[in-house]
Amino acid sequence: MTATPKSAADKLKEQMALPLIAAPMFLISNPELALATCKEGVVGSFPALNQRTAADFEKWLVEMNDGIAELKKNNPDKKIAPYAVNLIVHKTNPRLEEDLDLIVKHKVPVIITSLGAVSDLVDKVHSYGGIVLHDVTNVEHAKKAIAAGVDGIIAVSAGAGGHAGTMNPMALLHDIREVFDGIVVLAGGMTTGSDILAAEVMGADFAYMGTRFICTAESAAEPAYKQMIIDAKATDIVYTSAVSGIPANFLKPSLEKAGFDAETLKKEGATAAKLKPIMNEAAAWKTIWSAGQGVVNIDDTPTVAALIDRLKQEHDAAEQKVIARKAAKPAGPKP
Ligand SMILES: Cc1cc2nc3c(=O)[nH]c(=O)nc-3n(C[C@H](O)[C@H](O)[C@H](O)COP(=O)(O)O)c2cc1C
Repeated sequence: MTATPKSAADKLKEQMALPLIAAPMFLISNPELALATCKEGVVGSFPALNQRTAADFEKWLVEMNDGIAELKKNNPDKKIAPYAVNLIVHKTNPRLEEDLDLIVKHKVPVIITSLGAVSDLVDKVHSYGGIVLHDVTNVEHAKKAIAAGVDGIIAVSAGAGGHAGTMNPMALLHDIREVFDGIVVLAGGMTTGSDILAAEVMGADFAYMGTRFICTAESAAEPAYKQMIIDAKATDIVYTSAVSGIPANFLKPSLEKAGFDAETLKKEGATAAKLKPIMNEAAAWKTIWSAGQGVVNIDDTPTVAALIDRLKQEHDAAEQKVIARKAAKPAGPKP
């Protein structure tokens, strides 16, 4: 009897201790954060553009490959997860070709593409055994990425940090599952182990968390940014395109500090596309801090190891709770 071939999701899960990917974040994630994450069996990541030059980006890739090899050598009984690099596939990214060549040279295991999904890129990543996950906010973009041959779709729902979508996570996931049986990752507002289980139950293979990882000891966010997240309520997140021209979620107090009328922006939402961006992209993200609605449930800055340990415990406890509920159900009427 021939064994059923393993799915791409199963192959990735085998290398992980929890079905979670720590999302790439502009100006926040770096090899220190990514290696701490991979060490605990969760995929860690960073955007290529968090380094100013391709030469410096290459240094990070060497640091990651050496770091992962070292972790595997020193922790033979632990699952050390692969790492991911985020590439902005858009004509405004002048480094795309150069960065992609470095990715192929250093065989980066997981590539997360944003904006464009191109079959050339997918072929190059497949040539050395890597996989491509593409992030989308709606099924139309997912269909284009699937046609380009990506291995997985990251469904970014309403309330996510960064360039979020506007769709309810359940509806978005159903929309994507209807057309795709590859890897699906769900993003937006998740902060706990039970959130990860909920994503799995809904049909996702992995959960994706950004904002939760800003508040870790290893993240590059400045202390005031972490504190603002701890102090924020979900209603302090403003979805607006006024900052960079593309709608994204930002912390209300940081918008106010930068001179924006946050209440007006909140009312206008994505229609604030009419407003002119006030500064360039990098300056905007440095001064105006992005976060998702998951801030409601973040009130500490643990180490990555402590956070992931807690997420694993919460995930297992939630699973046990569901099993116990099922076992406790009274038997139905006898026939
Ligand atoms: C500060 C910040 C910066 C981000 N930068 C990027 C980025 O450079 N590239 C990218 O693909 N996504 C970026 N994102 C989006 C995340 O990768 C992810 O989709 C999102 O954080 C998930 O939602 P959550 O924050 O509610 O967990 C960013 C998010 C935040 C909060």
